[in-house]
Amino acid sequence: MTIKQLLAMGEKVLANRYGVGPEARMLLAYVLGAGDSYLLAHGEEEVAAAPHTTYLAYLQRAQRGEPIPYILGAAPFFDLRLKVTPAVLIPRPETEQLVELVMAWAKRRPQPDLHLVDVGTGSGCIAITLARKLPQTHITAIDVSPAALAVAQENARTYGVAQQIDFYEGDLLTPLTRPISLIVANLPYVTDGEWTQLDDGVKSYEPELALRGGQDGLTVVRRLLEQAKTRLLPSGAIFLEIGWQQGAAAVTLAQQLFPEATGESLPDYAGHDRFVYIQL
Ligand SMILES: C[S@@+](CC[C@H](N)C(=O)[O-])C[C@H]1O[C@@H](n2cnc3c(N)ncnc32)[C@H](O)[C@@H]1O
Repeated sequence: MTIKQLLAMGEKVLANRYGVGPEARMLLAYVLGAGDSYLLAHGEEEVAAAPHTTYLAYLQRAQRGEPIPYILGAAPFFDLRLKVTPAVLIPRPETEQLVELVMAWAKRRPQPDLHLVDVGTGSGCIAITLARKLPQTHITAIDVSPAALAVAQENARTYGVAQQIDFYEGDLLTPLTRPISLIVANLPYVTDGEWTQLDDGVKSYEPELALRGGQDGLTVVRRLLEQAKTRLLPSGAIFLEIGWQQGAAAVTLAQQLFPEATGESLPDYAGHDRFVYIQL
């Protein structure tokens, strides 16, 4: 079959799950090691048996609900293309906004020796982007999952920032050996109730450890804030990504644990409470 025929067939196979989307094209481009423009310009080219078979297998996986980034082994984050495996959460667009909030904070409060920690680093998307954007900053990236840390380290090497980031396996802030100025964290925040409703593509393929945040979704965040009390420097700050219905509860929690600090929830581009900012 030709490129054009395989594309049309793939779009049809994935239509139920994705509607009219780029997914079939992404899979075929990956299999052929080609870009979009090649597929467009060479629509009449015959595809050899081996890539044809691989493409069909990928279509079947996608049709069953496996997220496309796991099939491709990579996901976009800003201008990066990060390696992802089933050990790490696929980075989400909201998390790019978390990074933007941190960047704006760092710009408002320039500090020559800023030391920040990315807790629950997963693919390393937050730590690696911040390392590239803030080259003077020392970054610690922590995850409880050794398999996730291995992916984050590989991504850091790919983007040439491995020297700027210390990676630690451990529970939340416990691996830290000295106080820090800034905590950034996108920790698991799906409530037990939400978990039962979650899309199969997420629930069956993405790591439960990266998603589930207990009954109110704030179990891991609560423990992080408790640990932060003794580890954050006097003018330090915390930026968290949270579930869209958790803004008020997370701010109340922050106020209980840090009564002297200012705490507020901030919206994502969809207008939902998505982040919490705590400033000591
Ligand atoms: C929601 S994912 C976020 C991954 C990545 N930071 C991102 O934004 O795409 C949460 C991450 O926290 C890690 N994690 C869960 N519990 C943890 C704990 N107690 N201590 C450290 N990391 C934890 C998970 O392994 C997972 O990689």
